[in-house]
Amino acid sequence: MAAKLEQDVAAAALAALNTAEGKADPYPHYARLRALGPAVTSADGMLVVTGYRQSAALMRDHRLQKMPELILLAAGHHDWRDRPSLRLMYTSVLVLNPPEHTRLRRLISAAFTIRRVAGLRPAIERITAETCERVEGSTDFVTDFAFPLPVTVIGELLGIPPADRAAFQPLVRDWTMVLEDLSPAAVDRADAAAVTIRDYLTDLAAARRAKPADDLISAMMTALDDNEALDAEAVVTMAALLFAAGFETTTGLLTNGLLALLAAPEQAARLRTEPEIAAPAVEELLRYDSPVQFMSTRSAPTDLTIAGIDFAEGQRVLNLVGAANRDPAVFDEPDRLVLDRAAEPPLSFGGGVHYCVGAPLARLEGQIAFPALLSRFPRLALAGTPVIRQGLALHSYTSVPVTTN
Ligand code: HEM
Repeated sequence: MAAKLEQDVAAAALAALNTAEGKADPYPHYARLRALGPAVTSADGMLVVTGYRQSAALMRDHRLQKMPELILLAAGHHDWRDRPSLRLMYTSVLVLNPPEHTRLRRLISAAFTIRRVAGLRPAIERITAETCERVEGSTDFVTDFAFPLPVTVIGELLGIPPADRAAFQPLVRDWTMVLEDLSPAAVDRADAAAVTIRDYLTDLAAARRAKPADDLISAMMTALDDNEALDAEAVVTMAALLFAAGFETTTGLLTNGLLALLAAPEQAARLRTEPEIAAPAVEELLRYDSPVQFMSTRSAPTDLTIAGIDFAEGQRVLNLVGAANRDPAVFDEPDRLVLDRAAEPPLSFGGGVHYCVGAPLARLEGQIAFPALLSRFPRLALAGTPVIRQGLALHSYTSVPVTTN
């Protein structure tokens, strides 16, 4: 009886998360789920995790595996390898398990070490200063700053020509919906976007193989010559994921972060006058309103117990990192923004073997961008109602009208 009641409450909270209002402000619904315990089983058998310790333990435990095929087949996509959007996403490093995952991740890990990324600081400072010019006056913060800054940074790294970058924003939005919405309409729209992305990157990769440049796509194409286990499709899949992940999530960090700062002017004032707190400030902004709210593709391959939680074979985990980041057992007053909070790291970049490759880059972009914006525009303010982005796995806004006057 108690279990049934728990399932009903969990089902109501999960349904509420799926509404426009729930996507805009998921936190009260997370609190309802958390009141049931740090991990609860929903009516369809999925384990829903809101506790920080449990979430961290589950994402780091190699016994839980990405089993995307289970999800794709359950949604009726037996032909998923023939659907461009599903193939491009569900054969990527994001959803593979070791050893394939390890082999592919090696292709890119050297390019994103903390040291290599630190060397990008002067370039990111220059791009930030140039992008700040676009914010002067009355503008849309997403269109004029939060998108162009990270798309320029990752575009330069990968070697995507500047004129071609802007077209990717709507395409990536449509394509990445397959991480959470596998309905026929969503997959049709995602397919159209994925074909454009795939064909563009296939042509670019071939051009770079013929005439290498000083960029990551050229480096990956050159690596193919020494590695028979890889092919050009693997490079295109990796480039698509890196490009999409490189700006879509960072756009979320910059947008969600700015909104959080505008809602807490005393915190914004601190960052303006004490830019040396930029590193903890970015961690806190990531915690407070994470651009990635949940990770859903891990499952138990056999019966097992992790962090005191029993799993049945095939049981799926919905890891709500956005909720874990506000767990009161770990963070004092979790609903308050405290920029120099000395606390456990947010789980916004995941953990374990899939820990975000781009974390050092995204952090550096945030550490440069927020102090630059606040000091350049001391009167930066909202000038209209922000428009929430569709979806919850990737949580952000498509429009945030602002004024600098
Ligand atoms: C604030 C910005 C970012 C956030 C919140 C974020 C979040 C995440 C998370 C949560 C994961 C793990 C997913 C899972 O375990 O299922 C991940 C993986 C990944 N991220 Fe990021 N990311 C960000 C920026 C970036 C950037 C800038 C890049 C590109 C340079 C990037 C590239 C990747 C890649 C390639 C993976 C897959 C890694 C793997 O599966 O081994 N991300 N990211």
